[in-house]
Amino acid sequence: MLRILALHSSPRPAEVSISRRLSTELIVQIARAHPGAAVIQRDLAAEAPPHVGAALLAGVRKPELDRSAEEAAAVAISAEMIEQLDWADVLVIGAPMYNFGFPSVLKTWIDNVSIPGRTFRYDRDGNAHGLVTGKRAYVVTSRGGDYGTTGAEAGNFADSHVRVALALLGIVDLHVVAADWQALHPEARRDGYDVASRRISELVPA
Ligand SMILES: Cc1cc2nc3c(=O)[nH]c(=O)nc-3n(C[C@H](O)[C@H](O)[C@H](O)COP(=O)(O)O)c2cc1C
Repeated sequence: MLRILALHSSPRPAEVSISRRLSTELIVQIARAHPGAAVIQRDLAAEAPPHVGAALLAGVRKPELDRSAEEAAAVAISAEMIEQLDWADVLVIGAPMYNFGFPSVLKTWIDNVSIPGRTFRYDRDGNAHGLVTGKRAYVVTSRGGDYGTTGAEAGNFADSHVRVALALLGIVDLHVVAADWQALHPEARRDGYDVASRRISELVPA
C-alpha cells in the first residue's frame, strides 16, 4: 500500500487556491495508479506548526529525561511531524509563491522536521547525509508570473527552496508541477493551469 503525505500551505481555501486544486488532482491521479493508497492531508495554513525556538533546539540535544516540560512538548511536536514524514512513501507539497517564496507555514514545517542527528547528519568533513531516504516528492507550485523552470536567480525561491531543504534530508527524487501566469488574464491563467495539469499526467500516467 502506497502512503501519501500531502502538505498544503496556501492561505487561500480549496475553492480558489490553484496549488490546492493541482495537489488534489495529483493525489487523485497517484491514488488511481495505486489502488488502496493511504493519504494523510496536513493543512499547514489551517493548523500552522509552531516556530522553532530555543526549547526545541535545546530539547533535541538532551536525553529525554533531562528535558524541561517546554522542551519535551516542542520535541514531541517535531517528532510527530517527522513520524508522518517517515511513514510516507510519497510527499505532495503545495508550495505556492507568495512574495518570491512559499508561505511561512511551510517553512515552519521544514524547520520542525530538519533535526540534526534525526533526519540528517554532517560527517567530520562537513558533508551532509540525509537520513530520510527512499521517498519521492512532488512540489506543486502556483505563481502569478512566468518563472518556467527558473530558480532562485530569477526570484523563484519557492520550489527551489523546497528542493534544497528536502535534499538535505535525503529526499532527492523530486518533481515540480508549476502553474505560471495566475495573475494574468483568464486565458493565460487557464493555459498556465493546463501546462501544470499536463505535467501531472506525464509524471503519473493514468
Ligand atoms: C500576497 C501575495 C503575494 C504574491 N507574490 C507573488 C510573487 O512574488 N510572485 C508571483 O509570481 N506571484 C505572486 N502572487 C500570486 C500567487 O502566486 C498566485 O495567486 C498563486 O496562484 C497563489 O497560489 P494559491 O492559488 O495556491 O494560493 C502573490 C499573491 C499574493 C496574494
